[in-house]
Amino acid sequence: MLVGQEFDKLEDGYTEKIRRWVPHYDELIRSLVTGLPNDFEPQTTLDLGAGNGNSTFAVRQRFPEVDVVLVDASAKMIASCAERFGTSDAFTYVEKYMQELSFMPKTFDLVVAGLSLHHLLEADKQGLFSRVYEWLRPGGRFLACDIFVDTKDEQNHQQALAEWERIAREQGSSDEDWQYLMEHYAEYDHPDSFDDQMKWLRESGFPQVSIAFSRGYFGTIQAIKPMD
Ligand SMILES: C[S@@+](CC[C@H](N)C(=O)[O-])C[C@H]1O[C@@H](n2cnc3c(N)ncnc32)[C@H](O)[C@@H]1O
Repeated sequence: MLVGQEFDKLEDGYTEKIRRWVPHYDELIRSLVTGLPNDFEPQTTLDLGAGNGNSTFAVRQRFPEVDVVLVDASAKMIASCAERFGTSDAFTYVEKYMQELSFMPKTFDLVVAGLSLHHLLEADKQGLFSRVYEWLRPGGRFLACDIFVDTKDEQNHQQALAEWERIAREQGSSDEDWQYLMEHYAEYDHPDSFDDQMKWLRESGFPQVSIAFSRGYFGTIQAIKPMD
C-alpha cells in the first residue's frame, strides 16, 4: 500500500493517536516556529506532509497573516485540513507526493515538515532538499522536526527504538499501539541521522544548518538560505 493510503486510514482521531505515539509531539511541532527570530516575518509558507494541519496551525498561531500551501499524499488528510482551515486565499491544499512537487524559484519564505521526511528514502530527501533551496526566497528558512536515527548502526538503531517505545508507553501507548507502530515503521519509515541530513542540506546549498531543538533521537533541524 502507498503511504498516502496508509495515512488515509489514520486520519480519524489522528491528533490523539500521534500524541500517544510520537515522543514529545507537541514540543516538536512548536519547535518549528518557537526559535524563529522576531524580525523574521514570512508571507508564504509551504507545509510538507501536512497531515491534518498541526504544523500549519502552529505556523499560523505565530504568523496569523501568513499564506500556507499544505501538501500531503493522503486525500483524507488534505480533506481534513480543508475542513479545519476553510476556503480562503490564505490556504492552498495540494494532494500530492512531495517528490512530484514543483514551484517557481523563490516562492516561499518558510518551509516546514512535521514528522514527514522520515517517509522519504535517502535519495528522495537529498532531491527534496535541493528543490526546497530553490523554492525559498533569500533569507528563507526550512525547518523539519522528526526522528533522527543512524539506521546503518544497528546499536544506535535499537537504542532509538527502545527510547521511542519507553516514551510512547509513558504517553499512553498500549501493546496494540506499539505492535502497529513497528509494523508501520517496517513498511513506511526510513529515518536518517541528524549528521547525514545536515550534510545533505549543506550539499544542497544551505551554508547555515543547525539543530534547532532536540530531545534524544527526536528533534528539529533548521537550514537558512543566505540573503542575495
Ligand atoms: C506522521 S504524519 C505527520 C503529519 C503532520 N505534519 C504532523 O506533524 O502531525 C506524516 C504525513 O506525511 C504524509 N506523507 C508521507 N510521505 C509523503 C510524501 N512522500 N509526500 C507527501 N506526503 C507524505 C502522510 O500522508 C502523513 O500525513
